[in-house]
Amino acid sequence: LASAGRRAGSLRGAHPPETPRPGFSPRVRPHAKAPAEAARRDGTGRGGRAAMAAAGSDSRQRAAELFGWLVAPVAPGLFLARHWERAPLLVRRGDHGYYAGLFSTADFEAALRGGEVHFGTHLDVTSYAEGVRETHNPSGRALPAVVWDFYQNGCSLRLLSPQAFSPTVWHFLSILQEHFGSMAGANTYLTPPGTQGFAPHYDDIEAFVLQLEGKKHWRVYSPRTDAEVLPQFSSANLTQAELGEPVLEAVLEAGDLLYFPRGFIHQGDCLPDAHSLHITVSSYQRNSWGDLLEKLLPAALQMALEEDVEYRQGLPMDYLGYMGVANSDARDARRTAFMEKVQSLIKKLVDYAPIDAAVDQRAKSFLHDCLPPVLTQSEKAQSVYGFPARWQDGGPCDVDIRITKDTEVRLLRHGIVRLCNEEAGVMLYYTTENSRVYHKEEPKFLEIDPEYTDCIEFLLSSYPNHISVDTLPCETLEDKISLATLLFEKGILTTKKPLVQV
Ligand SMILES: *[C@@H]1O[C@H](CO)[C@@H](O)[C@H](O)[C@H]1NC(C)=O
Repeated sequence: LASAGRRAGSLRGAHPPETPRPGFSPRVRPHAKAPAEAARRDGTGRGGRAAMAAAGSDSRQRAAELFGWLVAPVAPGLFLARHWERAPLLVRRGDHGYYAGLFSTADFEAALRGGEVHFGTHLDVTSYAEGVRETHNPSGRALPAVVWDFYQNGCSLRLLSPQAFSPTVWHFLSILQEHFGSMAGANTYLTPPGTQGFAPHYDDIEAFVLQLEGKKHWRVYSPRTDAEVLPQFSSANLTQAELGEPVLEAVLEAGDLLYFPRGFIHQGDCLPDAHSLHITVSSYQRNSWGDLLEKLLPAALQMALEEDVEYRQGLPMDYLGYMGVANSDARDARRTAFMEKVQSLIKKLVDYAPIDAAVDQRAKSFLHDCLPPVLTQSEKAQSVYGFPARWQDGGPCDVDIRITKDTEVRLLRHGIVRLCNEEAGVMLYYTTENSRVYHKEEPKFLEIDPEYTDCIEFLLSSYPNHISVDTLPCETLEDKISLATLLFEKGILTTKKPLVQV
């Protein structure tokens, strides 16, 4: 009965609200900590497999290890100092099996045979020959007979977001995203021998090209102007005449890595003797200081308007007469005074800027972008996903989630939750109910009684250690158990031992 009441939402404090109430609230007072998350399966070659399988450890450390494996043998620190957002990097590994298990043409084929790949939405058929870039997508399902015919006729195939079809890519990206603190995406490209699929262009993301099979000849060019350094948007299809000399030219072989920052023009073509399969892992789309300020400044202004009468005082009656482009060359003391006033108001804005709240809002949209975590068998057994409740012998069995004061719990991953203080209340955003398909689900969150924020912070700061429910800083034992049960039911908390031994 108690359990039924809890499910009906009678729990004091933490309950799912009926309607999502997102939206930026500058009035909030700061709270909370860091973002992101991760998981396993077949994994990828060696170090990658080890990093992906190490689910019992600290998810932040595992994500750092996977990133280290991605850029190895270059040390991550060196990569960040010399290459990240600065310069391309070519890593020749001489190890064709380095990415083994991550994604293959067999996986490509399996995705097509699954019948859920649609032209345009999931797969693009492209060509680039004699300077002409074309897309050849028919409508409807991309089935092997049609797709391989295009390929045989020299078309390239771009499978968008393979994480929706490949559990290993899903697993891989779900870990990496925690390290980047920004969505990690991917596309895979299959190119026939002797062809090129895309016109030269630059993108708005940091790109990691992982050569999975065959070979590809790449040319990378520096940004052409200051405005094209770390651009906010991708370029159009460029012509060869618009390019200078490449800063990097290389033939990538299976196991190799090519990284280039956003704004670096690139083009890849296949040599006559080999096809190419690569996956491009991307991150840092709209993740700049400017993107933070875009959220922060309107919020700061709103707070300033509310709290400081100087921002609400009227403009001078005659200002239209001496300000404006037509007057920009005029020498006028009133212009100087006007400019100084604007400067001082802008400077003072920083005092009203809700910086932590704006960061929390970015964290919240990051959590919405995130892939859901992939669970190991043992994690499943320790979570709601492995809970043995079932229908048997004409009725439900093992339904009760018996969390007691001695049950030891921890977050499934450090980065799967974010506490945000919003106008509507304290919200706990979480990734466990996200979809493998980008934004297929609305943002998921629980409204939390402000009294419980300490408990959530305690769980975050205790991670990766387990803590017994009794040590949660809630007032009553009933509250502690209720909160732990709610978080367990959402897949956010795992128990050290399976709750019911099966
Ligand atoms: C490049 O050209 C193709 C084919 O015409 C087109 O579909 C694609 O949108 C173009 N890309 C950009 C960024 O304009």
